[in-house]
Amino acid sequence: MFELWAEKYRPKKLDEIIGQKDTIKRLKAFVSKGSIPNMLFAGMQGTGKTSTALCLVNELFGNRDNFVELNASDSRGIDTVRGEIKDFARTRPMGKASFKIILLDEADALTKDAQQALRRTMENYSETCRFILDCNYSSKLIEPIQSRCVIFRFKPLTREDTKKYLEKIEEGEKLKIKEDAVEAIFRECGGDLRRATNILQACASVDKEISEDIVLEVIGKAKSKDIEELLKLAIEGKFLDSRKKLYNLMIEQGISPDDLLKQVYSRIFELEIDDNEKLRIIKLLADYEFRIVEGSNPLIQVEAFLASLGG
Ligand SMILES: Nc1ncnc2c1ncn2[C@@H]1O[C@H](COP(=O)(O)OP(=O)(O)OP(=O)(O)O)[C@@H](O)[C@H]1O
Ligand SMILES: [Mg+2]
Repeated sequence: MFELWAEKYRPKKLDEIIGQKDTIKRLKAFVSKGSIPNMLFAGMQGTGKTSTALCLVNELFGNRDNFVELNASDSRGIDTVRGEIKDFARTRPMGKASFKIILLDEADALTKDAQQALRRTMENYSETCRFILDCNYSSKLIEPIQSRCVIFRFKPLTREDTKKYLEKIEEGEKLKIKEDAVEAIFRECGGDLRRATNILQACASVDKEISEDIVLEVIGKAKSKDIEELLKLAIEGKFLDSRKKLYNLMIEQGISPDDLLKQVYSRIFELEIDDNEKLRIIKLLADYEFRIVEGSNPLIQVEAFLASLGG
């Protein structure tokens, strides 16, 4: 099993978060008081929202005893998530802590009804529980939730900051990244450091000395042979093998889960599979593509797509 560099190089302390200067300064003030309000972290993907929340918990508590991370678009369904929130929120904090922290990723994926329920939970447990809601768009959250939270906006990382981050990995992995390669990565990722890291990791599996050419090769299209193999495994019901293949494609070729669906679509009529099977795949593609556009977690959706191909 490979290790994702985006995880390996995830910051451990607030001081290691790159960019987001104002946000970090304000958060440190809360840490020194030992208390936080309910918070909304809003911003584009890969800008440090989840990382910052995890660092904050570390600096406040020193451990994860009074912390839980949940994903609002989790495939287990919102009822489970809601149940887990209540179960966690209603028991007293452990040790010396005076409150618990719930990090809810992709909070903007919640339906309006679910948001109303969340709002009531926030009110009922305000004594013992603080929420950190991560989202891409704060405007998708109902007003009563927004007004209960202090909002922090996470900005796309600048070219300089992206470079700084890539250099940290360059040192850690003993790579040599050329200046034009940094440029090409920044053009492609537009301030999303997770994407930048995934591209870099894919490049490093080609060569430790990374040039613009390698970057361009990596962000190019996945070869149709790989896509075909991925689909075949899934159709034959070998879900775990197809999942492994999916992860390989993401790492070796640096393609994101949503790109992958588009590539399946563009190749489908060249593949050597039954016409009825093609139609079935297109229908499934349409469903899963729609859910991703609506804001569901792309990786979970692509895995669910592969699972459903198996019948
Ligand atoms: N500001 C940052 N400073 C340092 N590393 C960062 C920063 N932003 C992102 N990263 C890197 O990118 C990875 C993903 O970041 P993170 O999970 O914090 O993003 P996010 O904003 O929560 O994205 P999403 O909206 O997709 O959940 C991290 O593990 C880290 O390696
Ligand atoms: Mg996140």
